[in-house]
Amino acid sequence: MFYSLGRPIDFKLLRQDDKLDLQSSFEHSKTSKMKVTVVGAGAVGASCAEYIAIKNFASEVVLVDIKEGYAEGKAMDLMQCASLNGFDTKITGSTSDYAKTAGSKVAVITSGIPRKPGMTREELIGINAGIVKEVSANLLKHSPDAIIIVVSNPMDTMTYLVHKATGIAKNRIIGMGGALDSARFKYRLSEALECPTSDVDGMVIGGHSDVGMVPLIEKAARNSVPVSEFLSKERMSQVVEDTKVGGATLTKLLGTSAWYAPGAAVSALVQAIACDQKKIFPCSALLEGEYGLNDLSIGVPCVLGANGIERIVEIALSDAETAKMKESAEGVKKTNGLLDSVLA
Ligand code: 2OP
Repeated sequence: MFYSLGRPIDFKLLRQDDKLDLQSSFEHSKTSKMKVTVVGAGAVGASCAEYIAIKNFASEVVLVDIKEGYAEGKAMDLMQCASLNGFDTKITGSTSDYAKTAGSKVAVITSGIPRKPGMTREELIGINAGIVKEVSANLLKHSPDAIIIVVSNPMDTMTYLVHKATGIAKNRIIGMGGALDSARFKYRLSEALECPTSDVDGMVIGGHSDVGMVPLIEKAARNSVPVSEFLSKERMSQVVEDTKVGGATLTKLLGTSAWYAPGAAVSALVQAIACDQKKIFPCSALLEGEYGLNDLSIGVPCVLGANGIERIVEIALSDAETAKMKESAEGVKKTNGLLDSVLA
């Protein structure tokens, strides 16, 4: 016998057309809606949607793309994995109809063009800046309280653009780059240490660029033991360099930008926000004096939770790390300087 509100439920009464007050009891038990939008149904966006669904913390994921039917097709294909991958998340697709994204708690911007072999992320600004500006406006029109995660490259500059173009609270605009770069850093460290990645801790801050990344090798550890106890200076330098060109290495192999790890990194940030996890990730955040830097978005340790960036964590940096961070910021600001011309 089943009960609700202490009263046995007589299932023969629970036909679809019965208007019983029991319905109200189900309303209270309904989990709160967690709607996520992913703009750009390309490889990164679709991977992100897939990982979010498999983690099963979102009630709905809306994929949006400008290519007719593409987001709808990707959504349907992903939904046909539901019984196999065991998720309840509803994934839907929309061709440029942002009304379908209304009420999103988190919105991810992956739209724009990816780089080709030999290109830098900064070379994408001419096309991607206009797209990101338009997409962020469309998203906020239908989800005015959404937290926005920017993936499109050049990511730090695109994140800064969203701040300037929308004027929404800075804690609601998060650039995803450092989470991906840190995952690549841990991969390279586990390769050098010949140990499981789960035994490795490491963080990459600074700009999400082949030259501007700052892998914090001095702070990296193998189960709390500094990696300098296991690796030579030369090997540690190689790990740093391999990390910095992690994206370019894959672009050369794949002929286009990577998508699995970027999608997974975004899904981790979305989960931290959606589930109010208060986890620290290096994210591109608008700095107003932190780390001695102002008026730019760049990768720094952030606590992520229901409010987006709950707070920026200022860790002690060595003189060498501080100098690299300053140099990285100069590179990001140089790219930011191109925005006026591309948006004029
Ligand atoms: C990467 O590093 C796409 O920027 C992203 O792969």
